[in-house]
Amino acid sequence: MHAAQVGHLDLNIVDGRFGILPTLPFVPGTNACGTVVASDVHPIGSLVRLNGSGLGLRRDGGWTEHAVVPDKAAVATPAGTDPALACSFFSPAGTAWAAVHDVAAVGEGERVLVTGAAGAVGSMAVQLAVRAGAEVIGVVGRPAKLEHVPAGAKAVLAADLSAEALGGPVEVLIDTVGGPVLAAALGLVRPGGRATLIGYSAGREFSVDLADFLLADVALLPVNLMTRGRGLAEVGERLLAEIASGELTLNIERYGLDRLEEAAERLRSGAAVGKVALTMD
Ligand SMILES: NC(=O)c1ccc[n+]([C@@H]2O[C@H](COP(=O)([O-])OP(=O)(O)OC[C@H]3O[C@@H](n4cnc5c(N)ncnc54)[C@H](OP(=O)(O)O)[C@@H]3O)[C@@H](O)[C@H]2O)c1
Repeated sequence: MHAAQVGHLDLNIVDGRFGILPTLPFVPGTNACGTVVASDVHPIGSLVRLNGSGLGLRRDGGWTEHAVVPDKAAVATPAGTDPALACSFFSPAGTAWAAVHDVAAVGEGERVLVTGAAGAVGSMAVQLAVRAGAEVIGVVGRPAKLEHVPAGAKAVLAADLSAEALGGPVEVLIDTVGGPVLAAALGLVRPGGRATLIGYSAGREFSVDLADFLLADVALLPVNLMTRGRGLAEVGERLLAEIASGELTLNIERYGLDRLEEAAERLRSGAAVGKVALTMD
């Protein structure tokens, strides 16, 4: 193995908060990247990224130096690709693509509000919405993250969020944070608009007054990469190439295996900027 992602899903599994849990003892790590040492299918010495087939969930995953995985959990990856990028890009890039293009169907000239805009999914969503010709406002929870909202978007602190600060309501909300942030941001979408929900780091629940919800007339739409991932394979390869070439930006914080605790805490606390990866090299 060269690198493995430390993702929210991994931490939810490790913390016992995911709907499916592994039998202990087990090795976490749902996404990883390594060089093939032995296989009947994949060329020895080739670079592959690993995920799916229950990796890091129903069977041992990638937070390790050597992993044994089913052939179908390994996908050939262009030689020379940064392993930390190879195991990190698909979740944020695929999810952001699904939210911007497939679920919200962001159109040119629309106003789009993205929460968690310095996060991995949020920053990708900002860039894809800007590229789709939208006017994008990126919301962050802490001042230190304002400078990490990608160029092309207006950066706003969540505490300052209001219809006045936005210059009026938006057509689309892409929410990666959930909980009270979703509740507050929903009120900023104009009637007939769309709100997509991607994550719930800030809270699994929010309450809604159904009378207000009907009057607001905003469609609240979930984005689920697990069900949409297969259909995004081709798009994913394109996005990987664009991130590798610098056309799109995905920040990755890297930690050696011996710094796993620090890596996990950066992600858990919301302090991390972009993806978090373990590197074994
Ligand atoms: N639906 C799907 O298929 C799918 C796919 C991928 C990811 N996800 C989910 O989408 C969410 C975002 O993923 P990501 O990779 O972009 O994560 P990320 O890079 O860690 O960004 C999440 C952002 O949420 C904000 N946040 C607010 N309260 C938080 C809290 N209590 N703990 C941690 N973060 C908090 C932080 O931004 P501020 O500091 O600016 O508040 C943070 O940057 C996660 O919940 C993830 O599980 C869902």
